[in-house]
Amino acid sequence: MSAPNKSYDPVEVEALKPEEIERMRDEALAAFAAAADLDQLQEAKTAHCGGTSPLALANREIGALPPQAKAEAGKRVGMARGAVNKALAARQSELEAERDARVLVEEAVDVTLPHDRVAAGARHPLTTLSERIEDIFVAMGYAVAEGPEAEAEWFNFDALNIGPDHPARGEQDTFFVQGAEGAEGTDGSGVVLRTHTSPVQIRSLIDREPPVYVICPGRVYRSDELDATHTPVFHQVELLAVDEGLTMADLKGTLDHMVQALFGGEGMKTRLRPNFFPFTEPSAEMDMVCYVCRGESVGNPDRPCRTCSSEGWIELGGCGMVNPKVLQACGVDPEKYSGFAFGFGIERMLMFRHNVEDMRDMVEGDIRFTRPFGMEI
Ligand code: DAH
Repeated sequence: MSAPNKSYDPVEVEALKPEEIERMRDEALAAFAAAADLDQLQEAKTAHCGGTSPLALANREIGALPPQAKAEAGKRVGMARGAVNKALAARQSELEAERDARVLVEEAVDVTLPHDRVAAGARHPLTTLSERIEDIFVAMGYAVAEGPEAEAEWFNFDALNIGPDHPARGEQDTFFVQGAEGAEGTDGSGVVLRTHTSPVQIRSLIDREPPVYVICPGRVYRSDELDATHTPVFHQVELLAVDEGLTMADLKGTLDHMVQALFGGEGMKTRLRPNFFPFTEPSAEMDMVCYVCRGESVGNPDRPCRTCSSEGWIELGGCGMVNPKVLQACGVDPEKYSGFAFGFGIERMLMFRHNVEDMRDMVEGDIRFTRPFGMEI
């Protein structure tokens, strides 16, 4: 058994020599000082304070020393490590302060700068109103039906009992796309931009078996000049009901329900005035009670109404019982089935309902017009 190592000289332990410890300390201090950012400081910390750093390894050597040498070496290493930790903490807070200052500048938001965010759009009120009208009828079991805007003359006119000599076939109203001579595959029918949504009635009756209940919104075309009350492209909504035993009373009840749903129930109703349309028999012009004065301005000079010129009624569109000739043209037996229909312009309805005074506002696409109508979906 060997005797205790009384002559143990700590100077002989290479890692614990004072100049070695100083070198380790100075290297650590230099590395911290050289760290340009917190990432580099983290690397220097691992290298000089981590479990395998020179000072940590030196510290481990101390345990094997005799008591006197242990105390001296412990003091030396402890002081060095203390200095290293202190320098690390100092550099750490220095670099953190630098980073915070830089982030404040780099990520600053100047709330006074003018913004260039694109303004959110809004749905066009014609679309919203059209969908609203559709919804009223969908809730009653009607289906929404659509047809093409470039339409065969046969659907737009002939099947609707509008003969070749009818004034609506004249060029003043209709945009002709293709003459009958040049139109292949149309059975001798030319192509027009549909002048109303009524051809969708024909398509619905041909496509479906009665009973047929459809609501047909859509864009229509007439060669009018654009002015405050006309536009060559506008929108209509058409309604068609074909079933057994339908009468004009059903038409009237349906119209009353629609204006009540659109303008609020109290006192809203419609009236029918005799008129002529080739595709309905009998035909009528439909008026609704003025939604502003609800008829109270009539004969009441104390309460004049600008909206209806104190007439109490506002003209809405056309309606009637489907002409048996139309049913026949679509292969529906007029002995068994009867139907009612109506059609009106959505632009006009929008003018009443929202006090829009100039139709040009509806077609110009200026967001300042659409935005106040909101984002109703
Ligand atoms: N299509 C007609 C027009 O554009 C409006 C119309 C009238 C539609 C009477 C109908 C109706 O369904 O029954 O002037």
